[in-house]
Amino acid sequence: MSIFFLKSLLSVVLLLSAVIAMYTMFEVFGRKDIKINSDKLKRLHRLNGIFYLLVFAFIAYFCINFIVVTRAELSTRSTFHSLFAVLVIVLMGIKISYIRVYRHFYNQAKMFGLIMAILTFGIVATSGGYYLLVSDFGTDPSFDKLMQYKTKVTVRKEQTIDESVRFSLKTDSESVGRGKTLFGSKCSFCHNAYSTDNIVGPGLKGILKNDKLPVSKRPASPVNILLQFTEPFNRMPSFDHLSEEEMSDILAFLNTL
Ligand code: HEC
Repeated sequence: MSIFFLKSLLSVVLLLSAVIAMYTMFEVFGRKDIKINSDKLKRLHRLNGIFYLLVFAFIAYFCINFIVVTRAELSTRSTFHSLFAVLVIVLMGIKISYIRVYRHFYNQAKMFGLIMAILTFGIVATSGGYYLLVSDFGTDPSFDKLMQYKTKVTVRKEQTIDESVRFSLKTDSESVGRGKTLFGSKCSFCHNAYSTDNIVGPGLKGILKNDKLPVSKRPASPVNILLQFTEPFNRMPSFDHLSEEEMSDILAFLNTL
């Protein structure tokens, strides 16, 4: 099972935990006449809170590790995701201090709890929810490769494929269309097609119009990009599981940038 899929499943668990937290709080404080034993509910609320924190810490470990390994500039989605997560932790700290120490603020703790639960929906939507959607509920294998970063830097700048190996670029609109879709599902996570700004890897605007490829500085030719798929330079995961057809469709799209 891919780490992203596992993380997404865990985030659904986190969401359930937030729902339980809200439900127990509403049952205890929201009703005129309490239906269920409120001591039991409070205990459930507390245990559930500890469970939430443990799952949260476990997932956060992977997220932070991902950022450290890729040294990625966060995308807009990840920025919101991290912001929600940081807010939840800060609110949790304040809420516990209100309940345990600063009892005069006790009433505000309920509102804080509600905001945390709402933020949890935001956290899950911007990560697990997104991942499950784009990976066809974890069935698209290319996402499994995302975490397989090569930690050791292997410099192979000199390695180029013999340019006499001819490669004919497809230019028909169907290939370009298929390539665009493939790019959207397999590459756009790390590459911006419409600018040269970095996401995880370099932006690929004009990639085949320049003289050199942006990182390896190999000549910007279709064959060298094919080499990038099968034996990627540096930290990019390999895409050697793509069929030749798919690779040439992606190239047809890259050629239009
Ligand atoms: C998980 C992130 C990730 C994914 C997904 C990814 N790449 Fe990359 N790519 C990188 C990184 C990182 C680099 C730069 C290499 C480095 O600095 O280590 C790179 C570099 C490149 C380069 C420049 C290579 C050079 O020689 O300068 C091209 C072209 C490229 N990627 C195309 C693609 C295409 C096309 C796809 C989709 C099939 C793709 N990448 C998917 C991370 C990724």
